[in-house]
Amino acid sequence: MNEQDLAKQRVAQAAVQRLPAHTRLGVGTGSTVNHFIDALAASGKPLACAVSSSEASSQRLRALGYAVHDANDVPALDWYVDGADEIDASGCMIKGGGAALTREKIVAAMAERFLCVVDESKCVATLGAFALPVEVIPMAREAIVRRFAQLGGRAVWRQVNGQAVVTDNGQHLLDVHGLRIDQPLALERAVNDWPGVVAVGVFALQRAHVALVGSAQGVREVAFAA
Ligand code: 5RP
Repeated sequence: MNEQDLAKQRVAQAAVQRLPAHTRLGVGTGSTVNHFIDALAASGKPLACAVSSSEASSQRLRALGYAVHDANDVPALDWYVDGADEIDASGCMIKGGGAALTREKIVAAMAERFLCVVDESKCVATLGAFALPVEVIPMAREAIVRRFAQLGGRAVWRQVNGQAVVTDNGQHLLDVHGLRIDQPLALERAVNDWPGVVAVGVFALQRAHVALVGSAQGVREVAFAA
């Protein structure tokens, strides 16, 4: 395991310790969350219920014995735990590197509090060095590419071996390079209004309340002002 992965594991364990027993839990997606799911199962801490943000996390939870509820069957969640690709000093994030941004927003919005679990490399002064993921309806893809070009961004269709990456919702992804996102809330609201955008990976409306940041030195907690 490399140093970054060790930091992810450390922060995942701290997140499990921080959660009260019998939490109504929203579970995010990604390698840090995979460590979190494993640590949660190892801890034996009971949950009131779990809702997941991706097929991958649902599968991992079920394999470890957790029942995963349909979001429609759960009125509210206490905590949402997820990683991020970048997080700034106010708790705004870029997410979606793992293609799950739309469901992540849905589940995060159901939760009273968002606990973000990251290694130190994800903490930035200004969002945008990580290419911004955007889930799009396929027929709108090139129109959205042109919209981002007007903002100075270069949107690239996410493909693997020449095949479009398809999200759990059956849609496609753009990754937008070259944006300096110094007003995350304004950008999120603007892009949300573009026809064909399913979700943009700026999380300012659903920003983190608390972050646990892992490094070689240990884990520090950051609480963001309301
Ligand atoms: C998935 C996400 C992840 O939270 C983000 O990509 C961070 O992933 P990792 O924990 O693997 O570094 O937004 O859509």
